[in-house]
Amino acid sequence: MVKIAPSMLSADFLHLEKDVEMVNEYADIFHLDIMDGTFVPNISFGFPVVEAIAKAARKPLDVHLMIVHPEKYVERFAKAGAQYISFHYEAALEESEAIIGQIQSLGVKAGIVINPDCPVEAIFPLLPKVDFVLIMSVFAGFGGQKFIPESLDRVWAVRAELDRLGRKDVPVEIDGGVGPGNAAEIIRAGAEILVAGSSVFKSANPKEAIEAMRNA
Ligand code: DX5
Ligand code: ZN
Repeated sequence: MVKIAPSMLSADFLHLEKDVEMVNEYADIFHLDIMDGTFVPNISFGFPVVEAIAKAARKPLDVHLMIVHPEKYVERFAKAGAQYISFHYEAALEESEAIIGQIQSLGVKAGIVINPDCPVEAIFPLLPKVDFVLIMSVFAGFGGQKFIPESLDRVWAVRAELDRLGRKDVPVEIDGGVGPGNAAEIIRAGAEILVAGSSVFKSANPKEAIEAMRNA
C-alpha cells in the first residue's frame, strides 16, 4: 500500500494548523525537512516547529535530517515526536551503521538517505540494518525542484537488493519533484512512500493531488 507523505516545507507557516489538519485527514505521514545551512545551502526549521506539529498530528512524523553530525540531534527529534528519522549517508559515511542503531534504540524507525550523485551500492552494506531507505530524486536542500528521471532506476536497484536480502517489509521512500504526473512510474519502480511538497501544498486541491498519487 502506497503512503503519501506531504513535505511540510511547502506548507503555509502562517496557517500551519490548517495544513496539519489537511494531512491528518487525507495523507499518511508528515515529512519534516530539517536543514542546517551546512550540509545543504538552506535552513528550514527546528525543534519548536516539529513539536508544534507533533501536538496536532494524528499521523506519524518522518524527520528527514539534512544536517552534519546527525548523531547529536536524533535523540531530541525522537523526544520531539518523530516516529521515523532519516539522515544522509554522505553526512555520516562510516558512522552510518552506528547512527542507525542509535535511532532504533530510541524506538524510532531508522532510514538512510542518498543524494542523486551517490552510487546506490554505497548503502548496500546498510540494507540489512535499516527500517527504510530514502532516495532523493532532486538534490537535497530546496522544495520545488524538477524530478531527476534516473532516480527510477535507483529506486529499482535498491528495491531489488532489499528483496534479495529478504527484506520485503523495508519500504523505499522517494523525495523531490514527485506529483500526480509521475507517481505511477515511481510506484512501478518500487517506491512505497511518496514525499510531495509543492505538488500538494501549491495545488488548488491538496486532497485531490494526494488521492491522485495514491491511486496512480
Ligand atoms: C528537499 C526536501 C523535500 C522537499 C520536496 O530537500 O527533502 O522533502 O520539500 O519538495 P518538492 O515535493 O516540492 O520537490
Ligand atoms: Zn525531504
